[in-house]
Amino acid sequence: MSSASITQLKTNNLSGSTGLEEIRMNHNRIQVDDKKIINCRADLNQLVPFKYKWAWEKYLNACANHWMPNEINMSADIALWKDPNGLTEAERTIIKRNLGFFSTADSLVANNLVLAVYRHITNPECRQYLLRQAFEEALHTHSYQHIVESLGLDEAEIFNMYREIPSVSTKANWSIQFTQSLADPDFKTGSYENNQKLLRDLIAFYVVFEGIFFYVGFTQILSMGRRNKMTGTAEQFQYILRDESMHLNFGIDVINQIKLENPDLWTKSFQELVIEIIQTGVELEYQYAKDTMPVGILGMNADVFKDYLYFIANRRCSQIGLNPIYNTNDNPFPWMSEIMDLKKEKNFFESRVIEYQTGGTLNWDD
Ligand SMILES: [Fe+2]
Ligand SMILES: [Fe+2]
Repeated sequence: MSSASITQLKTNNLSGSTGLEEIRMNHNRIQVDDKKIINCRADLNQLVPFKYKWAWEKYLNACANHWMPNEINMSADIALWKDPNGLTEAERTIIKRNLGFFSTADSLVANNLVLAVYRHITNPECRQYLLRQAFEEALHTHSYQHIVESLGLDEAEIFNMYREIPSVSTKANWSIQFTQSLADPDFKTGSYENNQKLLRDLIAFYVVFEGIFFYVGFTQILSMGRRNKMTGTAEQFQYILRDESMHLNFGIDVINQIKLENPDLWTKSFQELVIEIIQTGVELEYQYAKDTMPVGILGMNADVFKDYLYFIANRRCSQIGLNPIYNTNDNPFPWMSEIMDLKKEKNFFESRVIEYQTGGTLNWDD
C-alpha cells in the first residue's frame, strides 16, 4: 500500500482532525461552516475565521487577568502561621487539608486537559482557550506550592495527602474514571457511544470537579481572609477562584455547544446519568466539608455547606439545561457570589446579549 493510501486510510478512521495531518497544498480554504466543536474534519491549525467567538473572548479575558503567585505578599501569613496563638487547630487543619486537596487536584485537571480532553475538541479557538486554561492550572499548582513553601509546611505531607488522607483522596479518585477513556490513545469520538462518553466526561470535570469540588475549600479559605486571617493565602485563592469561574463557564459553553450540534446525545437516560453524577459530586463534597471541618468555625459548619452545595448544584443544572435537583434556593454565602462577580459567572448561552456585545474584560474589585 502506498504511503498516500495509508494516510488516507488513517484519515478515514479518524473521527476528527488532530491538526497534525499531512498539509495538503492548495486545498480549499477554511470556511466558518466547516468548523465543528467535535468530529471536525477541517484543518485545525487555522485560528480564523472564528466560529465560536465566546471561546476567543474568554481567551482574551483570561489573558487580561494574568497574575503570578509570587507577586502576592505572604509576610502576614508567615507571621500568623508561626505565632503559636495565631490560629486555632481547626483553622490550621482547614488550611493544610485544602492545600493537600488543591495542590494535586489542579495537576489532575491539567493532565485531563492536556492528555485527554484537548485531542477531542476539534476547534482552534476552543483549543486556544484550553491552552490558556492549562497554563492557569500550572499557575494554580505553583500558587499552592508557593503557599506551602512560604509557610514552611512539610511539603511531602501536603503533596501526599491525596493518597494518605481519605477525605482528600476520595474526590480525586472518583474523577479518574472520567478521564481514562478520553486519555486512551485508541479512544476516538465519532460513534454515538463515544460522543456521549466525551460529553459525560466533560460534565464530570467541568461541572462537578471544577464547578462543585472546589467550592467548600474556596469558601473556607476566603472566609478566613474576610476575618483578616491568612490574607495572602486568601488573595491567592481569590485569583484562583476568578480563573476557575472562567474555566467552569468555558466548559459549560463547550458542553452546550456540543449539545446544540449533536442534540441526539441529550437523551432522557443520559440526563438521568448526568443528574446522578452531580448528586454524587454533591455527596462527596459534603463529606469533604465534614472531614475538613469536624467542628464548626467562622460561622460555618458542614450543614451550612450542604445548603450551599444544593444551591450550587441547582445552578450548575440550570447552566446545562436541566431542572433543579434540590428543593432549595438559599445561598448561605452570598458574599462568595460577590467575589466571583455573578455577572461574569454567566456563561455564553445565558449572557450573549448583555456581555459579549460590549466586549468588556473582567473587572476585579477586591
Ligand atoms: Fe485550577
Ligand atoms: Fe480550573
